[in-house]
Amino acid sequence: MEARVGLLVGVENTFPEPFISLVNRRGRAHGVVAEMCRLGGTRELEGRQRYQVIVDRISHEVPFYRAYLKSAALQGSAVINDPFWWEADEKFFECTLARRLGVAVPRTVILPNKEYIPYIEPERSLRNLEYPLDWEGILSYTGLPAVLKPNTGGGWRDVYMIDTPEELISAYDRTGTKTMILQERIQWQDYLRCIVIGGEVLVFRYDPHRPFLERYVTDDPPPHALSELAAEQARTLTDALGYDVDTVEFAVRDGVLYAIDFLNPAPDFDRFSIKEAGFNWVLSKMTQLVIGYATGELDPPWRGAHRWWRFV
Ligand SMILES: Nc1ncnc2c1ncn2[C@@H]1O[C@H](COP(=O)(O)OP(=O)(O)OP(=O)(O)O)[C@@H](O)[C@H]1O
Ligand SMILES: [Mg+2]
Repeated sequence: MEARVGLLVGVENTFPEPFISLVNRRGRAHGVVAEMCRLGGTRELEGRQRYQVIVDRISHEVPFYRAYLKSAALQGSAVINDPFWWEADEKFFECTLARRLGVAVPRTVILPNKEYIPYIEPERSLRNLEYPLDWEGILSYTGLPAVLKPNTGGGWRDVYMIDTPEELISAYDRTGTKTMILQERIQWQDYLRCIVIGGEVLVFRYDPHRPFLERYVTDDPPPHALSELAAEQARTLTDALGYDVDTVEFAVRDGVLYAIDFLNPAPDFDRFSIKEAGFNWVLSKMTQLVIGYATGELDPPWRGAHRWWRFV
C-alpha cells in the first residue's frame, strides 16, 4: 500500500515545493508519495490515516492543526515534530535541561507576568505572588547587560536587549500577558546555529547583527573543533527533547558554548537564508527522514513516550 507524506506550512515559500518533489522522486521506488495536507472539519474517526507521515511547520500558530496532529499521532502518524512535547516545551525548562546535560546556559530568571486575563483579580487570585518584584535581587543574579524575552516564542518577537535597570522596567511593563525570562546577555566572540535533522547536524556560523537573509555565514566556517563540539551538544539537546528536527543556537564566549535558543522545532528552511548548500542538505535529510518513517524503517524518537501509547 502507498504511504503518504503530508506537509503543513505557513508563509514559507522556498521549501515546500522542492521538498514535495524530492520525496516523490526518491520515494517512488518505496511506494512513498508526498503532498500538501488539505484539512477542513476533520472527523475524529477516519479509519486509516491519510498521512503516515506529517511534517508540521506551523501548528504553533494554528491551533486547529495541533488538535488534528495529536489525534493523528495517536492513530500512528509519524508527526515531525511531536505535537505534545512541542506544546509543552519552554525556554526556562530548556535551560534547566541543558545545564543538567552539561551544556552551559546563561543565568536565567523566570518572571511573573506583568498582566493577566480580565477576570483575574490580583488580591484574590494571585496570593502566591510576591509584589513588588525584587528587581535588585533579580538583576544581581543575571547581571547587565541582559535579554528579556518570551518563555515560548520565536521570530525575535518581544526580545528586548537590556542595558540598564530602567530599560528592564520599561520593557517588562510592555510585556502584557506574556511569560518572560530575563537572561544574562552573553558577550560572545562567535555565534553558531546548528540545524539538526534525524540526528545529523549542519553547523553554521551565524551573525545575528546582520540583516535577516545574510545572517547564516557560509563563506567563513567556524573552526573544525568548535564545530564538532557544537554538533555534539546540539545532538544531545535535540535528542533529549525528543525532536526530529530543531535548530540549536550557541553563543561562544572564551571557548565555552552557551546554548541560547533551542526551542526551534520549525527551523528556518528558507533557501535564501540558509543558502544553496544548506538548503540542499536540508532537502536531502528531510527526505531521507520522511521516507524512513513512511516505510517503517525508522520510528520517531518520541513514539511510545506518552503514557496513552501503552493502552492502544
Ligand atoms: N542570553 C543571550 N545572550 C546573548 N544574545 C542573546 C541571548 N538571548 C537572545 N540573544 C540574541 O537574541 C536573538 C533572539 O533570541 P532567541 O533566539 O531566544 O529568540 P527567538 O524569538 O526564539 O528567535 P528565533 O526565531 O531566531 O529562534 C538571538 O539570536 C541572539 O542573537
Ligand atoms: Mg527561537
